[in-house]
Amino acid sequence: MAEATYTFPPDFLWGTATSAHQVEGDNKNNDWWDWEQKRDGRVFDDHVSGEAAGWWSGQAEWDIERMAALNNNAHRMSIEWSRIEPREGEWNHTALDRYREILKKMHAEGIQPMITLHHFTNPMWFVHRGGWLHPDSPKWFAAFVKKAVAELADLCSTWCTINEPNVYASYSYFLGKWPPGMTDLSAYFRVLKHLMLAHAAAYSIIHDLQPQAQVGLAKHMTLWQPHTSSPLDRLATRMIDRAFNGVTLDVLETGEWRPIVGRRERLDQCRNTLDWIGLNYYARYDVSFSLRALKSLGITYGVRAGVERGPEDWGELYPAGIFENIKRLYKQFRLPIYITENGLPDEHDNRRARWIAESLRHVWRAVNFNWPVKGYYFWSLIDNFEWAEGYDPRFRFGLYGVNFDTQERTLRKSGEFYAEIAGTGKLSSEMVSRYAPRLEKKLFPGTGPEDFQVVDLG
Ligand code: BGC
Repeated sequence: MAEATYTFPPDFLWGTATSAHQVEGDNKNNDWWDWEQKRDGRVFDDHVSGEAAGWWSGQAEWDIERMAALNNNAHRMSIEWSRIEPREGEWNHTALDRYREILKKMHAEGIQPMITLHHFTNPMWFVHRGGWLHPDSPKWFAAFVKKAVAELADLCSTWCTINEPNVYASYSYFLGKWPPGMTDLSAYFRVLKHLMLAHAAAYSIIHDLQPQAQVGLAKHMTLWQPHTSSPLDRLATRMIDRAFNGVTLDVLETGEWRPIVGRRERLDQCRNTLDWIGLNYYARYDVSFSLRALKSLGITYGVRAGVERGPEDWGELYPAGIFENIKRLYKQFRLPIYITENGLPDEHDNRRARWIAESLRHVWRAVNFNWPVKGYYFWSLIDNFEWAEGYDPRFRFGLYGVNFDTQERTLRKSGEFYAEIAGTGKLSSEMVSRYAPRLEKKLFPGTGPEDFQVVDLG
């Protein structure tokens, strides 16, 4: 059978993403640790993060070698604010040194780091002062950013200020699933506004310290579609998309803050605060209007019957959504785009290779429209602590499996696949036939002579 190939640009970044609390272990001074200790059923089976994937105590170095073994040239990691600033204004140099070691190891292995400065966790002192609801929260975060960037700038120049402001604000302040467990829509918007101001402050601090820095944030883009074509379902879809996606994107573009609940205002300092934008993409949901959902303005969402979906409340596994989101971000911002996360929960590794192949085929398509997608960070390198899902085996995201009792790693088949793609900068029909044969015809229609039809033009 003839071979066909999707080829990526030679300078494309191939990486994976992780976050501090999910892999480091022993993060005892932040709000997630505190939340886990409650053991009140809000984390799956009352799991605690514990040693996680052992990065703090030495596993990081081994895992960085694994990144290199996957032929990767990039990694997105986060640093833990509560380690670096355990009490307000007090800096822990041992923690900063540990991060320096980790970053140096990445450089030694040919891995270009991107550092995320906030990935869902907060120091306890910050929480006690009111956390992200407090109007001074952006200022407190900015002081941390100033210190951390000053200390690490010689080892990193790509910064991601905040991971998924909407996911954090909605799970923690509206859905009540993450600390502090609030269920208040106006708190969601207040927190989101403070996160955007914190991002803007971080952007200018980083550029003052490191003029050549490349600064952005990771925007989780959930894809919403109306469950039916009824005007109410369509309206509900527009509303949830605005609340979750539009409000954040618009303030970054125009400086206009237009929440669904709360006062509109100008936040001009948020304009022009992106050198690139990060896209985290996972799933699609169907949206309906329901009179029973008054607390959420009549908006409910779920997954339509018959489609491939993830476990529990996870949405539809719809890889083409990555293309729609790249298009949207490009149209709105005309900036370089990194796919800062993309992945799926897949305990038995029987979907991951297909997901990677289809997603990358869409990324390739975007690149070939000349949309500036510069890199792809798969979520995740290794299995890790999955927030409210704890260590629920159904929520395994890694290219390497982790045995959390022994810290042993096992390379999954999908990891081998990703290593081949990253190593060659190509996705070929031959690779797909080995790792995701079900997709061969879909991704490469007409790769073999048997598909070749002579059309009689008469
Ligand atoms: C988060 C990660 C998380 C992943 C999978 C993303 O929203 O940034 O921390 O593990 O999704 O759920």
